[in-house]
Amino acid sequence: MKLFWVLLIFLKISFVKSQNRTCGMGFTLVLDKCLIVFDDGFPHSYAEQSECVTMYGGTLVNIHNAIENRAVSEFAISKNLETFWIGAFCFSNQTSSCYSDDYSGPLKYSNFHKGYPLIEKPSNGCVSMLTKGGQAGRWINSDCQKSYLSFICELPSIIINPAYSNCHDKFNGFCYLHGFGNMDYAESYCQQNNGTVMSIQSQMENTFVQYRLVTEWILLGAKRVFQNSYAWADGTPWGAFDNRNPVDRSLETLDCLVFYQLNGFWERTDCSLKQDFYCKIPLEPKVEDSKCNSTMLMAPTEISSGDGPCTWQLVTPGAYPITIYFTEMANGTTVELYDVNMQLSQEIKQSGVYFDAKTNILNVAHDGVGSFKAVAKAQTYHD
Ligand SMILES: *[C@@H]1O[C@H](CO)[C@@H](O)[C@H](O)[C@H]1NC(C)=O
Ligand SMILES: *[C@@H]1O[C@H](CO)[C@@H](O)[C@H](O)[C@H]1NC(C)=O
Ligand SMILES: *[C@@H]1O[C@H](CO)[C@@H](O)[C@H](O)[C@H]1NC(C)=O
Ligand SMILES: *[C@@H]1O[C@H](CO)[C@@H](O)[C@H](O)[C@H]1NC(C)=O
Ligand SMILES: *[C@@H]1O[C@H](CO)[C@@H](O)[C@H](O)[C@H]1NC(C)=O
Repeated sequence: MKLFWVLLIFLKISFVKSQNRTCGMGFTLVLDKCLIVFDDGFPHSYAEQSECVTMYGGTLVNIHNAIENRAVSEFAISKNLETFWIGAFCFSNQTSSCYSDDYSGPLKYSNFHKGYPLIEKPSNGCVSMLTKGGQAGRWINSDCQKSYLSFICELPSIIINPAYSNCHDKFNGFCYLHGFGNMDYAESYCQQNNGTVMSIQSQMENTFVQYRLVTEWILLGAKRVFQNSYAWADGTPWGAFDNRNPVDRSLETLDCLVFYQLNGFWERTDCSLKQDFYCKIPLEPKVEDSKCNSTMLMAPTEISSGDGPCTWQLVTPGAYPITIYFTEMANGTTVELYDVNMQLSQEIKQSGVYFDAKTNILNVAHDGVGSFKAVAKAQTYHD
């Protein structure tokens, strides 16, 4: 009876979440992950460098919560897997010493068997999941080299959008469209195609780009704003995932970045150089994002009031100062504009107005009362 309920809950969860998502060939959709089984014995190092990584850009399955743990263990059991590798590693006997191998840091969720993690020697730090009896779903440590286990590899699922059924390269919520040209051309080409020049937001996405977009050098959608800091063209904050080559030998005066397929690193490049690039086109309609509390948000971008007090730092790379247009503003709203030195420049209380900043940095603050929408652009766009 208990099993029945567990199954029912599981089916319900996977059904509800899976409606609008799909997987590539050979993968099974489980919750919002695409899973594939390698059911032979492999040491952990092989599992980490398997064709799942090198052909599909996947990673060993990572488990972030109890629902995922249950779903993955049910999936493994349905495939008759024995104990199998999962994407985690422990350095000592404390759970706090265990890390996810998707580079998201120490494990926030774990489901170790009683007495684990147990690291008797350093080579024992790899983590596997049991599939048998009452301990199914529990984690133990296994010898990374000497244990030969099955493994499950995962990729993010793909959002279904019939309009992009012909898109060759899809990953997570985006279609990756190839083009060739310099940065100015790439920006306008991507804009015409309802996308932006490719940013890379995680190790997983970096792996996907390295192994699936078979182009040796790929211009990235990032431009340098300060000495050592960049802004992404798609408006996502810089710095969440930074894979720049620590020993980049290219000229320090170059303002763009290029992805090097051989090692997966990003290196400096000349923005005016014509090269391969990809546009990232969202596969589902953009949900409105206030971008609350972002620093170095690259214009052109849209911001709007959040649920409470918010600040934004807007930047335009290059020589042009920034302009902000207020397109909507509720009665009783005040938005404060500060210059690069945090001196108050202007208070905005109505829509239909714009403000020209004197530099390419503008700080915006809203106390959370009322609501507004604004668009920021470089002054070169002034009609
Ligand atoms: C999923 O698809 C259904 C119907 O096809 C639609 O109503 C719903 O908005 C979609 N959900 C998302 C998150 O796109
Ligand atoms: C973990 O515990 C075992 C048994 O108590 C001990 O032999 C081992 O040295 C411990 N490992 C570490 C890394 O402290
Ligand atoms: C871009 O989006 C608009 C509005 O949704 C659509 O009409 C247009 O066909 C799209 N353009 C391309 C190249 O997909
Ligand atoms: C943004 O920052 C302000 C001030 O630090 C804080 O009160 C607010 O909760 C933050 N909002 C979000 C959504 O993080
Ligand atoms: C805003 O306030 C003014 C004067 O107080 C009022 O006439 C107007 O209708 C209000 N607008 C909205 C959208 O509430």
